Amino acid sequence: MTCPLFDAVAKVVRERRSIREYMDEQPPKEVIEEILDLARWSPSGNNVQDWRFTVVRDKNMLEAIKAFSPGWIASGNPVATIISSDREWALKKGGRHIAEYLYYVHAGIVAQTISLLAHAKGLGTCMIASFSREAVKTLLSLPENWEPVLIMLVGYPRNAPQPPPRLPLDELVTWR
Ligand SMILES: Cc1cc2nc3c(=O)[nH]c(=O)nc-3n(C[C@H](O)[C@H](O)[C@H](O)COP(=O)(O)O)c2cc1C
Repeated sequence: MTCPLFDAVAKVVRERRSIREYMDEQPPKEVIEEILDLARWSPSGNNVQDWRFTVVRDKNMLEAIKAFSPGWIASGNPVATIISSDREWALKKGGRHIAEYLYYVHAGIVAQTISLLAHAKGLGTCMIASFSREAVKTLLSLPENWEPVLIMLVGYPRNAPQPPPRLPLDELVTWR
């Protein structure tokens, strides 16, 4: 049975890559906004929605953040969206388990939604986990109760890499 929606989603999932070479032109604000507006529909425990997005477009600020991010090996001029968790909000709305453990899961889920949407728009992304939380928090004057979890680069790809290999399904799945 053909299922165009499944085929379209499968194509986006299969073809998305972590992009580490970007063009100099940044994506327009409206496009980033459209992607983040849709990403709000990601699921979260208790529907807590503790994710907060700080979109950095300023070149000097991007350079400053990059200086504290060993995982930022990408070249070019993408925007960087810092995905933080408002952990105070998470505690209030979802309780301790969410505020202490699940906030990382939430950031990962919303990050993947962003990267798939961005790919579908012809944009490239790269998630960066290797960065100084403290430095980013200070540089961007983030509220005390926010914890930056991921940096998400979003820009026009200059180069799409070959897909890194995936483990075969039968090594990942057991059926009971
Ligand atoms: C949680 C997480 C953290 C990552 N951190 C970094 C990073 O710090 N720097 C980087 O260049 N790529 C980072 N990546 C990208 C991975 O290296 C990449 O997803 C993986 O090699 C598979 O390649 P693909 O995304 O092109 O399929 C990260 C990915 C995830 C999901």
